[in-house]
Amino acid sequence: MSIHPVTVQHVTVQPVTVPHVSIEPSILYFGTPVVLLSTENPDGSANLAPMSSAWALGRTIVLGIGRAGQTARNLAERPELVINLPAPHQWEAVESLAPLTGRDPVPAGKPDGCRFEPDKFGAAGLHAVPSDGVRPPRVAECPLQFEATAVSVRADASGSFVIAEAVVSKVHADPRLVVPGTNHVDPGAWSPLIYNFRHYFGLGPELGHSYRSQTPPGSVVGVGQETPEAALVVEERAAGAVHGGLGDQADDEDVVADRDPVVGQADQVR
Ligand SMILES: Cc1cc2nc3c(=O)[nH]c(=O)nc-3n(C[C@H](O)[C@H](O)[C@H](O)COP(=O)(O)O)c2cc1C
Repeated sequence: MSIHPVTVQHVTVQPVTVPHVSIEPSILYFGTPVVLLSTENPDGSANLAPMSSAWALGRTIVLGIGRAGQTARNLAERPELVINLPAPHQWEAVESLAPLTGRDPVPAGKPDGCRFEPDKFGAAGLHAVPSDGVRPPRVAECPLQFEATAVSVRADASGSFVIAEAVVSKVHADPRLVVPGTNHVDPGAWSPLIYNFRHYFGLGPELGHSYRSQTPPGSVVGVGQETPEAALVVEERAAGAVHGGLGDQADDEDVVADRDPVVGQADQVR
């Protein structure tokens, strides 16, 4: 085997010290954030389902959802939803939802052990709070909550999933995650829950930032401290808050405030 560097279209590929092996993994879930989708059931109650096939494209969240589940059915009929983002310490609540479906009877194709559960919020020990502009409720305990409407729900190429494009109309953020006086989420305070080959992780320490970041390290706490409200948030953050994720205080409903940050145009393209 060659150990010399090779140049492919002006990119120099360094030799690897350990040769790769060809494998056939049963899953390809290489580590994406977990969201909890609240949707509306036909009887007006709320369904709640964990999904890790979720990513942002400007103001749109693209979702990959199993076609046989209740979430896909709900979105096809009633397109409003909330994309709730749990923090790493909430992984057990997320996992408690894993074997549950809002569909009765349980459809063929669901994994063994899957059962119908009409009250998924209760089953996970989570609390529903009303949304401002959509019918499904938000998950009070989730530090970030995006109200959205699915403008497109279509079958994927395999026929097993639907791909939903959900346009976000309102963002609710725990104030401890917001750079005081701005609409920016502080990347040093927020960590998503990551689903990594069916295991749960948070983020490790920061490695660097994009040249387009509007919250470079060292500038995040202090921006906008001139307002009394911002100063209070900074004080609170200094007193109990966290670097690298929220602690148990994230379970306190009182701290989930509606700040309605509006993402600026400049944030919309990565
Ligand atoms: C962490 C986690 C991530 C998941 N990601 C997805 C996903 O991206 N797409 C999907 O269809 N199901 C995913 N699931 C499985 C669904 O949550 C599961 O099928 C659930 O029963 C759907 O509920 P529903 O039938 O009420 O919609 C995930 C489950 C867990 C625990």
